[in-house]
Amino acid sequence: MLTDKLSWIGEELFSLEEQGLFTHIRSLESAQGARITINGRRMLNFCSNNYLGLANDPRLKQAAQAAINTWGVGPGAVRTIAGTMGLHLELERRLATFKGVEATISFQSGFTANLATIPALVGRNDLIFSDELNHASIIDGCRLSRATIIPYKHNDVDDLRRKVSQHSPFKRAMLITDGVFSMDGDLAPLDKLVEVAEEYSLIFMVDDAHGEGVVGHGGRGIVDHFGLHGRVDVEIGTMSKAFGVVGGYVAGKQVIIDWLHQRGRPFLFSSAVTPADVAACIAAVDIMEESTELVDKLWENGNRFKQGLESIGFDIGRSETPITPVMLGKAPLAQQFSRRLFEEGVFATAIGFPTVPQGKARIRVMLSAAHSQTDLTESLAIFEKVGTELDVI
Ligand SMILES: Cc1ncc(COP(=O)(O)O)c(C=O)c1O
Repeated sequence: MLTDKLSWIGEELFSLEEQGLFTHIRSLESAQGARITINGRRMLNFCSNNYLGLANDPRLKQAAQAAINTWGVGPGAVRTIAGTMGLHLELERRLATFKGVEATISFQSGFTANLATIPALVGRNDLIFSDELNHASIIDGCRLSRATIIPYKHNDVDDLRRKVSQHSPFKRAMLITDGVFSMDGDLAPLDKLVEVAEEYSLIFMVDDAHGEGVVGHGGRGIVDHFGLHGRVDVEIGTMSKAFGVVGGYVAGKQVIIDWLHQRGRPFLFSSAVTPADVAACIAAVDIMEESTELVDKLWENGNRFKQGLESIGFDIGRSETPITPVMLGKAPLAQQFSRRLFEEGVFATAIGFPTVPQGKARIRVMLSAAHSQTDLTESLAIFEKVGTELDVI
């Protein structure tokens, strides 16, 4: 019977609720921004990856509207079958120039860019050395490839080197890391990792989803931050965070991009993002190339907020970027904290297992260039009030 067949799901959902691990999704009644409307109420927003405040920027909206008039609303089919629109090619050229690489290929999301790239580069008889805290889309891409996955301790280059040398020699292997780790805001030691990759001829891939628009000159990403142009084989990017839109891409050597046109399965078997999305992405690149103003403002806001939280007495972990975890430990406490912030007018989600390890639950505060000084001052006061009330500080 249907009910019996699916009864385990209800039990699992109940158990998640009991452990404080059930994800309650808020419904928004406004565009993304520093303040958003939820349940008819204006709230301070610290949840989105809208780093540069571009998600509701009039220049991006105007570009999207103009593209609909010229190109319509849909891409028709996958690009290899229906043909590729000039607009998608323009975005890929613009991203290649922005990133300082030979070529790029765009995908529907950062997630599918990972699913496309990893299985295209390694297979059943190969190895992948993967940071233990890599993003879920990297983990899924690794699994799809059927290569043997060898996790190494987070950002631990000695552990990586030990594991690589134990398995050497091998025919083909990849080294994969997040650039900026999205739950802690720390950076991968790319300058050290690249040395191991070069010594052992590993195909070196970095997922720069949270680095683009944030680190490097004018937000050009983590490879630029470490001055490693030409030494990292593959950079994965997303258009859904700092660029403010949606989509993903791979940046790197022409030969890798040529291969992904032939073997990147989400490119071959799923339609591209819409012309409106692509035009908005190009407008975002225009803005980022014009000036570093938004990136500078993001860092100013991030530094100010982190100093504020620390001076109140919060533990903000090991962040090196505007991603600010407020470490609370137990998942139910993090959920209670988030609920109290919400009642006080601050939207900041609690993050628990399996997104972060058990016992490392937190509120993750995402700063944006869109936040004003008043937004920051107001929210710091609310964090202090809730922190005192719940005995965290
Ligand atoms: C490191 C990393 N890679 C990939 C993604 C997926 O990006 P997208 O939202 O474009 O699918 C994310 C998003 O959370 C991410 O943090």
